[in-house]
Amino acid sequence: MNDHKPLRLVAFASGRGSNVAAIAQHIRNGELNAVIAAVISNNSTSGVLEFAREQGIQAFHISQKQFDGDEDFEDHILKVLADLEADLVILAGYMKKMPKRIIQTFQNRMLNIHPALLPSFGGKGMYGHYVHEAVLNYGCKVSGVTVHLVDAGYDTGAPILQRCVPVKEDDTPETLAARVLKVEHSIYSEAIQLFATNRVRIKGRHIKILP
Ligand code: GRF
Repeated sequence: MNDHKPLRLVAFASGRGSNVAAIAQHIRNGELNAVIAAVISNNSTSGVLEFAREQGIQAFHISQKQFDGDEDFEDHILKVLADLEADLVILAGYMKKMPKRIIQTFQNRMLNIHPALLPSFGGKGMYGHYVHEAVLNYGCKVSGVTVHLVDAGYDTGAPILQRCVPVKEDDTPETLAARVLKVEHSIYSEAIQLFATNRVRIKGRHIKILP
């Protein structure tokens, strides 16, 4: 496929894990030159941890509650990421704010996926059905997906890839979410493959994608 060594991904997720499953499928298909080194979840009963275990992917339940203070928690995550030799951290429905120290350590090497066209319909509290409800309440004709770098804000990092998804007149939050999710399942792997093939050049907020 290419001469690059497979990118080592570590995914952070809290829920069902359909994006992680789609990425795993693209890797199996040979469309994405990466390995999922581990999945980390704050939620011990999440579908994503179950999926990882079924697939033989290392699965860690790591929650702030298991530690005495922020520093111990952050030290532990950083140690796990170092031991896993993570190249790229991918957030896929991770419902906790990533600590600043970890974001800094993985500056320009941490991605998130958001189910709308940022900077619209992003920020604190804008997740899951709240996003799609807000898009429909506004009367938008298009929504979409954004894959972006993670910085210290909520959904404020520079976009790597964005794609539009049409809104239909009879959409409900559920029907729109399903159409958006389909696009999420391809665009996240595409964005990761850009990193795997070293085609992303980052200058502040300005991201150039090499052909
Ligand atoms: C996705 O809609 C993603 O955009 C958002 O959280 C959701 C996670 O879904 N950040 P899943 O757990 O990958 O199915």
